[in-house]
Parts: sequence; C-alpha cells; structure tokens
Amino acid sequence: MNPSDTLTEPLTRLRAAITGCPHDHPNPGPVTSGTGRADLAEAEDFVRRHHREHPDQPGPLLARLLEIRRQIHETGTYRHTHDELVFGARVAWRNSSRCIGRLYWHSLRVLDLRDATAPEEIHQHLITHLREGTNGGRIRPTISVFAPDAPGRPGPRVWNDQLIRYAGYRQSDGSVVGDPAYAEFTELVSRMGWNAPGGPFDVLPLIISTHDTKPQLFDVPADDVLEVPLSHPEHAWFAELGVRWHALPAISNMRLRIGGIDYPLAPFNGWYMGTEIGARNLVDEDRYDLLPLIAARLGLDTGSETTLWRDRALVELNVAVLHSFAEAGVKISDHHTESRRFLTHVEKERRAGRTVPADWTWIVPPVSGGITPVFHRTYDQADQRPNFYLDPERRELGRGRCPYSHAQP
Ligand code: ARG
Repeated sequence: MNPSDTLTEPLTRLRAAITGCPHDHPNPGPVTSGTGRADLAEAEDFVRRHHREHPDQPGPLLARLLEIRRQIHETGTYRHTHDELVFGARVAWRNSSRCIGRLYWHSLRVLDLRDATAPEEIHQHLITHLREGTNGGRIRPTISVFAPDAPGRPGPRVWNDQLIRYAGYRQSDGSVVGDPAYAEFTELVSRMGWNAPGGPFDVLPLIISTHDTKPQLFDVPADDVLEVPLSHPEHAWFAELGVRWHALPAISNMRLRIGGIDYPLAPFNGWYMGTEIGARNLVDEDRYDLLPLIAARLGLDTGSETTLWRDRALVELNVAVLHSFAEAGVKISDHHTESRRFLTHVEKERRAGRTVPADWTWIVPPVSGGITPVFHRTYDQADQRPNFYLDPERRELGRGRCPYSHAQP
C-alpha cells in the first residue's frame, strides 16, 4: 500500500467539510512531508554533532553510526535514543531563526511520547503538556514529541496551529466575534460537531488524526487553560472591555526534523513576549483590531494620523498586557528585556564556536524596534538542522482551509 494514501484518505473524506475548498481532485496528494524514510547523511551528521557537543555521554560514536546504518538499511528508518531525542529537540529550538527567546534553549523539557498511538491517549498527553507547561503561571518551555513518520506509517498530527486558540464567528453583517484568523477553522470544527458557545474568547477544540483513525475532535478542558483578564494600571475602564488572553503559546503544527527523521507532532511552548499579544493578536486588523476602541476610550483624536493615536493606544495596550500578566503571576517578558537576552545568547553561542541563524524581520519586535538593541545589526541566515518546519499543508489546515489549494495555479 502506498503510505501516502493511508494518510490522505481520512483527509479526503473530510475535505468536503473544509470550508471553501474548491478542489475536487481524486488524488490530492499526500499531506505528509515525505516518505518516512530517514536520510542517512543527515542522521550521521546529527549523531556526530551529538557526540561533539556531549563528548562524555553517549558511548562510542562508530558503533552508533553502524547501528543507525543497519537500522535504516533494514527498516528505512532508525530510532533515536532518549538522549538523542532530547538533544535534537533542544538544538531544533537553538536553530529556530525566527525565535528571539533562544537563550534558554538548553533547558527545554522534552517529553518522549513516541509510543502513544491512540488519539485518546495523544489527547491526554496534550492536556498534560498544557498543565505542566503552564505550571500555574511559572511557565516552563516544554516539548512533547510523538511518533515520527516511518515508511508506510506516518506519525499522528494535530490540525490546530496552536493547542490554545480562540474561535472566531462570522456574523451575517460580515463582522467576526472572536479571533477572525480562526473563523474558517471554527466553521470546520462546527461542521465536525463542535457545540460552539459563540463568545469572543472560546477555546477551540483539537483535531487529532492518526494513521489508523480519521480526524477527531477533542475538547480542551477549561480548567487546563490558564487565562489572564486584561486590566490597565491607570485606566480602570480597561478591565470593563472584557479582553483576555491565554497564558501559554503552544505551537502544534510544525514538523520537528532531527537527524533525517520527521516528527510531525511535536507541540512546544515557551512563555509570551508581551508584544505578541499587545501588538499583534489584539491589534492586527485581521485579528482583534482593538486600537480604534482603545483610542476612543482614551479620548484620543482619531481624525488624523498625525496625532499618533494608534501608537499611543498601542503603548497603553502593551502596558496593560505586561501589567495584567504580572498581576496574575503568569510569566511573560517585555521586548526590551527579551532583546537584550537574545544578544546575550548570540554572544554565548559565539564563544561556543557557533553562529546564530536569525531572521531580522522576525527578531526585531513589532513595536519600538529602533530602541531595542536587536535592531542595530545584521544576522547570519542559515537553515541548520535539527529544526522546526511549517509545511504549507499544515499551515492551511491550521486555518481550517483546504490543504491542497496552495498547489493550485
Ligand atoms: N506569536 C504567537 C502567538 O501570539 C506565538 C508564537 C510563539 N511564541 C512564544 N513566545 N513562544 O500566539
């Protein structure tokens, strides 16, 4: 049997449910990123790096290289040791060129869940991840690594782009209640049977699919989602807006690639930098778009751009985010502190003889760029492995869209 058939089959069945999917190709192609065969050269490269960076630990290099070669020859892939998995996941973070928060790459907690197969079991582990990663607000960077893709046996997937995201409900007048970025995903899970509450901050259910099971919905229990109601230290009216955000950013649609092996389900979390919420999620015009409302409450003159009403409202919103998380005892950092930490990381890595691949357009914060030190320099750009990859199919699924539309002319 063609391995990709088995993976796409459930997708094909659900395709009709995916909103706005105009494609009716009989064989839409795999949503898997590869064949499941491990790349030997990449495997060897990785194991050599592991030994180089941990000369004390893992036993003789040559024996390990031979063992990997034998396993790939016999099965098309190989199994990472626990140490390799932990090291690989940490280095994947270290190599993530868009992440400003990499100073603590070495302390990433790695949960080895490669043997979990049933969707119910996977769901339980995801909830445990939320609970342990959130840790009552003292957030711990954590990754849960589930089964890798193997020949004829693709690993499990979560369709959501993050474990915690808010639904968006399109109204008849075209406006959206909730997060507009998830309006299509919300329609998708509603068609699959989710009982949508219809509020502005409803946590979406998870879609989990495996090699043996069609995509299924699982709820994220409210008790396991820590949220912070936003208030402002000087403006009492701010709390009345009823705006909140979740404490944990946990990305669930990126493929972790270690030593030539793909782990399609490896959700990871860090803590928030305030601007992600206060300058993007609540501000982008295609997200919560709150600046006009906040400017009005601040009494700013929105009649002309030159009053800088947007900028002034933006700063007050970011003050509210940092203030509220601190009040609630939830770990968060500001963009000045995180920028300085990043340069500390670059310097530490330089001393270790490594360069830090970085994407300036992502590293520089979306507010006050020029008054953070990360603005005033350039960075090396390189695709170093291990790393995390966002495949186009997963990007589309995460937004509730047809995964095949990107392939169309
Ligand atoms: N920017 C994304 C969000 O607001 C989260 C990305 C990961 N962020 C992090 N601090 N680890 O939801």
